[in-house]
Parts: sequence; C-alpha cells; structure tokens
Amino acid sequence: MASATHLLSQPSSSLRRNLNQYQSNRSSLSRIPVLSLKSTLKPLQRLSVKAAASSPNSVKTATKGSDDHSAFNHCFKKQSDGFLYCEGTKVEEIMESVERRPFYLYSKPQITRNVEAYKEALEGVSSVIGYAIKANNNLKILEHLRSLGCGAVLVSGNELRLALRACFDPTKCIFNGNGKLLEDLVLAAQAGVFVNVDSEFDLDNIVEASRISGKQVNVLLRINPDVDPQVHPYVATGNKNSKFGIRNEKLQWFLDEVKAHPNELKLVGAHCHLGSTITKVDIFRDAAVLMVEYIDEIRRQGFEVSYLNIGGGLGIDYYHAGAILPTPMDLINTVRELVLSRGLNLIIEPGRSLIANTCCFVNHVTGVKTNGTKNFIVIDGSMAELIRPSLYDAYQLNIFLVLFLVTTKAY
Ligand SMILES: Cc1ncc(COP(=O)(O)O)c(C=O)c1O
Repeated sequence: MASATHLLSQPSSSLRRNLNQYQSNRSSLSRIPVLSLKSTLKPLQRLSVKAAASSPNSVKTATKGSDDHSAFNHCFKKQSDGFLYCEGTKVEEIMESVERRPFYLYSKPQITRNVEAYKEALEGVSSVIGYAIKANNNLKILEHLRSLGCGAVLVSGNELRLALRACFDPTKCIFNGNGKLLEDLVLAAQAGVFVNVDSEFDLDNIVEASRISGKQVNVLLRINPDVDPQVHPYVATGNKNSKFGIRNEKLQWFLDEVKAHPNELKLVGAHCHLGSTITKVDIFRDAAVLMVEYIDEIRRQGFEVSYLNIGGGLGIDYYHAGAILPTPMDLINTVRELVLSRGLNLIIEPGRSLIANTCCFVNHVTGVKTNGTKNFIVIDGSMAELIRPSLYDAYQLNIFLVLFLVTTKAY
C-alpha cells in the first residue's frame, strides 16, 4: 500500500517517463531540494538491506566516517552533487543495493556520538544513561546502546523482555509506567530491575510481585513535581493534571507504606519525567530543585536513597531549520551542582535525543498519477512503516531526492 508520504528519490525509468510528460511545461514544476526523512520514532523491525546481511536483525547501519565525533551532528547530509549521504555513503547507492524497500537506514556512528555526548556531559557525575526503549525498540539498536554502557527504560513487559534479550544490565534498567501489570512486575522483580512506583495500586502490585518472586524490589517514587515543561499537552507528563506519578501531598503515605514493607521494598530514589521535546533546560533545573528537596525530606526520615532520576525529554531538531537546541551538556550543567551537593547518582532517560537524528526512512517512487485535479507521487512506503504522520499529522521532515515536484495544477 502506498501512503501519502511524499518522498522522492532518484527516479526510476518509469518515473522518468512519467515526468518527461511534464517537462514541456516547466513553469508548473517546482525545483525541489533533496531527500527525506526521519524525525518521528517508530521502529521497523524487519529491515531488509543486502549490505546488512551479516546482521541477523537486518538493520542497515552505515559505518564510514566515524572519525567525525562532533556530538549531535546530523549524519545525513546533502552534498554538492545534490545527493544525500550518510556517513559518507550515498543513500542512493544503499537504496539500489537493498533486497526490499522501503527501509530505515541508521547511522551506527551517530548513535555512538549521541551517547558520547551524554557521557561527556556526565563526566564526574555517578550516573546511568537509561535509553527509553519506546523511542525505538529495534533489537540491533538496543544491543549497540547496551554495548556503549547504556541502561534501559521500560514501560511494558515486552520492553522488559526485549531489554533482557539485549542483555542490558538489570541494575541499569528502570521499569516505568502507571499501568504495570502484576505478571510484568513479577518478571521485573525476578530480573532485579529498578521499579518506579506510580500510584497506590501500583505499590500494592509491586509488593505482591515481590512476594511472588521472593525478591525484594528496588523502588523509586515517581513524584509529579507539577512543573510545566512548555510542550505540546500530549507529551507533558510532569504537571499536576497528568496521570503520572504521585502527588506531593501523598508522599508521606508512600513513605509509610515502604516502611511497612521492609522485606518487599527498598526505596532507592526518586523519579520524575516532565515530558518530551523540552527545549528550555531551566525547566529541568526547576524540577531538579524540587526533587532534591523531596530527597532531603525522604532522607530525613531515615531512608538511604541515593538515586535521582530526572527522566528524559531533551528536545530534538524536528524541522532542520537551524534552531539552536540545548545539548546534553546544557542539560546536565543545569543539575550538576545539585546532584553533586547531595552525593546522588543521577539517572537520565533520554529517548528521542539518542536516536532520532540517526535514522532515515528511505522510500522509492513507484509512479506518479493524477485524479484530474490533484497530482500524486506514489511511493513504496506507507503508514504500515510510519504511521504517525497519517494518524495524527505528526510532523515528518521529507526531503526529495532529485528532480521536480509537480504542482497541484490540472494537466
Ligand atoms: C518515563 C519516560 N522516560 C523517558 C521518556 C523518553 O522521552 P524522550 O524521548 O522525550 O527523551 C519517556 C517518553 O515518553 C517517558 O515516558
């Protein structure tokens, strides 16, 4: 099925034929820049690229040019010949070599650079970089992130199973979510991952999971700090109207419950996650100040908590229009002193800022057609591979490779 996603690559011969019909009326054609792609984050599990035949998961990763370690650079670049390159390799050539299309193309060096940017920012701070698996759960990517020393942030039993399959260190994994199922909590308890407590019933389930598994569970309290992340309401999760986390006036109840279950629960820290696409790092600082006050209070009550988890949410460059966005260093610099002053281990949960700029969804034009009033460029990609733009108009950067886009003029 072809979607309305408009991606144009080097034209096939049939497209060339079709386009030739329009060459006579060039005034109705707009010159378009180059290729496509990826700013939303859904994984494609089955990626078929010949050059990746050695990889069991068939993820295509470009590996050249990894000597450029400037953090957060975009690895997809249009060069002077008008083509898009990934780490020095022409995407067009990769497209020609694949067995099946469309496909997602990832840059392994870019993933590495993104992690390195966080690591550099976190130097001198005891920390865990917990990759939020929901951002992209491709196993090959998970394995690469694990090999770089990342932990994993999970929001379902299946994400937990994936993390275990990718051999993440369980002590660097955090199980989040406000609807965690008992059976998944049992698995989490058995595996020894950290679990965030989100509500009263969640706490009851964690206690039950501990009893079933016979394992004490390391828990963090997910506190809703009521800080406005100034983002789209759909991705704001740390303000008081959100369904996530516990309200500060209930904190004492949770502390008493933890105290009442010493065999089942060990309180190790506090967590918050404000939302996604945050572009002002002061917001993280505002939340961290509040969270550290909670930790002070929790410690005053005799708990030996040592983890502050400030969640994920660092904004990314969706529009590629030259916006200056905060880097991991900017983010960590706003909380560094606070964390060090309390001798805390810092957990961060980046998702899209680790993976979004590493990937492009490569489509090929199947043909062009008209319904008399509107012209369509039909491609091989569809909402089966990338649902969000069609589903709710999510923004997707499309870059056209080569030639002309026919305007919506009847012909
Ligand atoms: C608890 C939690 N942590 C981390 C993330 C990752 O956020 P982002 O991809 O914006 O970094 C999310 C995303 O929804 C989340 O809910």
